[in-house]
Parts: sequence; C-alpha cells; structure tokens
Amino acid sequence: MITMMMVKPLLFLLLCSLLHPIAATNDNHLVPERREVYDNGRIIDITHKYTPETPSGGDSENGVGQFLRLRDSMKNGSLYNGSELRNLFVHAGTHVDAPGHMFDHYFDAGFDIDTLDLGVLNGPALLVDVPRDKNITAEVMQSLNIPKGVRRVLFRTLNTDRKLMFKKEFDTSFVGFMKDGAKWLVDNTDIKLVGVDYLSAAAYDHLVPTHLVFHEGREVILVEGLKLDDVQPGIYSVHCLPLRLVGAEGSPIRCILIK
Ligand SMILES: *[C@@H]1O[C@H](CO)[C@@H](O)[C@H](O)[C@H]1NC(C)=O
Ligand SMILES: *[C@@H]1O[C@H](CO)[C@@H](O)[C@H](O)[C@H]1NC(C)=O
Ligand SMILES: *[C@@H]1O[C@H](CO)[C@@H](O)[C@H](O)[C@H]1NC(C)=O
Repeated sequence: MITMMMVKPLLFLLLCSLLHPIAATNDNHLVPERREVYDNGRIIDITHKYTPETPSGGDSENGVGQFLRLRDSMKNGSLYNGSELRNLFVHAGTHVDAPGHMFDHYFDAGFDIDTLDLGVLNGPALLVDVPRDKNITAEVMQSLNIPKGVRRVLFRTLNTDRKLMFKKEFDTSFVGFMKDGAKWLVDNTDIKLVGVDYLSAAAYDHLVPTHLVFHEGREVILVEGLKLDDVQPGIYSVHCLPLRLVGAEGSPIRCILIK
C-alpha cells in the first residue's frame, strides 16, 4: 500500500530534479565556495583573506586599500580578464618577514624573502595559548614550558579573542613579544619559526628592539597575522609558502595546518 509518508519524499526528489537544471544554467546561482577548512577538517587555512579592509602594518587607519585592479577587462573588449597587484604593502595581512626588515645591512646584503629557509617554514608545529593578561615577556615564555626540540610555535593571544585581524584599523594595543621575551626564546629554546596572530611579533612598545633580537641571528623566521581562530591547541604540520620576491624584506604568505 502506498502511503502519503512514502510519497512525500518522492515528490520532493521530483521537485528537486525539475528545479536543479534551471538553477545550474542560471549564472546568478554560480556561487563559489569559500572555506576555512578542507578535507573534513584535516586541512585548516590559517591565512587571512586579502581585501581592501585587511589591516596593514604600515600604521594605516584604512586597511591595505585598493591593491587589486582589473587592467584588462572582457567587458571592455579584452580577450581576457587580467588583474594586477599595486601598492600592496608586503607587511599587510598574513605575511612573513625577512632579516632585512629591520637590519639595513642585511637588506643591502640581499637577505630577502627568496633566501628564507622553506625547511623552517614547513614541518611539525605547536599551537599554544598565551595567558591573556600579559604581553609575551621572558616570564611568560618560561611559563609556557615549550619542550626543547620544538622548532615551530604558533602563539595564540588576546589578539585572536579581540578579532584584531578582522578590523581594518591598525591597533597599537595588540599583544606581542617584549624584548626580554624574544631574547628568552632565542637563548633558551630551539624555536626557529615564530607565528603570531597580529601584524607584528613584537609588541608596539618594543617594536624595533624585539625585531632586532629575532632577526639578528638570521635563523628565526617571523610569520605574522595568522588566523588562529577555532583551532585546537596542539601539534600539527604547518606549511607556509611565501612568494619568491627577490629584494623584498616581507611577503604575503599562505599558511595551512594539517592534522
Ligand atoms: C571577466 O571575464 C568573464 C568571462 O570569464 C566575463 O563574463 C566578465 O564580464 C569579465 N569581467 C569584466 C569586469 O570584464
Ligand atoms: C572600461 O573602460 C572605461 C573607459 O576607459 C573605464 O572608465 C572603465 O573603468 C573600464 N571598465 C573596466 C571594468 O575596466
Ligand atoms: C601589550 O603591550 C601593549 C603596548 O605594546 C599595550 O598597549 C597592551 O595593553 C599590552 N597588553 C597586555 C595584555 O598587557
């Protein structure tokens, strides 16, 4: 006996199959998917999107601004759409620093993004939560008890809770390393990749001295402006790839975590 209970799902399927071809041929329904995780959560994108509102380390109130321009447009008779990047500050959004960022002689000697060690930028990494009431001092570093041998650490701070990377204005009250915290890390740990959740690894009050401590040995790589929301603390495999920008002391970088 055919009941209404059985017919209802069939009617629904019939309706879907009728509607589907219409939807597929209508361009208004072509909506690309944007994701934060892939492969059922195995791959986590920890890179922020680049938009004109992406915050920029250049003390900008207005974000990175209009950095993308359609140079060739099909609507204007070109055979193709072709965009160009312009005025994109390389320390905006999720990015990496090279030793030349705050050492002029390293800059002149050519220690640019193209010389960064991909072996440091890729491999096992620890995501840790930093106490929310302090900047990263030597005392805080010590309290994190990061075991010797750990080479890559992503530090999640109050910046993530405050959603600072989602605000276009550069906010100088962000949490970062104080000079003594950076010195403690360099002297007492094996950490070579330092990942942070705002535009600078160094707290604003110690901006230059902290960067100098990190960059002096040319071994520590700073990846800044990471998107660490909704990720469990723990061990992952991190993969970060900067652009091969010869002559640049910074570059946008794509970083993912793999479980
Ligand atoms: C870009 O290319 C598509 C075809 O791929 C075309 O439909 C569209 O109009 C172009 N956009 C502009 C702004 O020219
Ligand atoms: C097309 O060309 C016109 C005139 O040069 C210009 O004003 C307009 O911005 C162009 N549009 C695009 C999408 O490039
Ligand atoms: C961290 O230091 C900045 C100055 O660099 C300050 O504005 C901020 O309040 C400090 N944050 C905490 C949690 O102590």
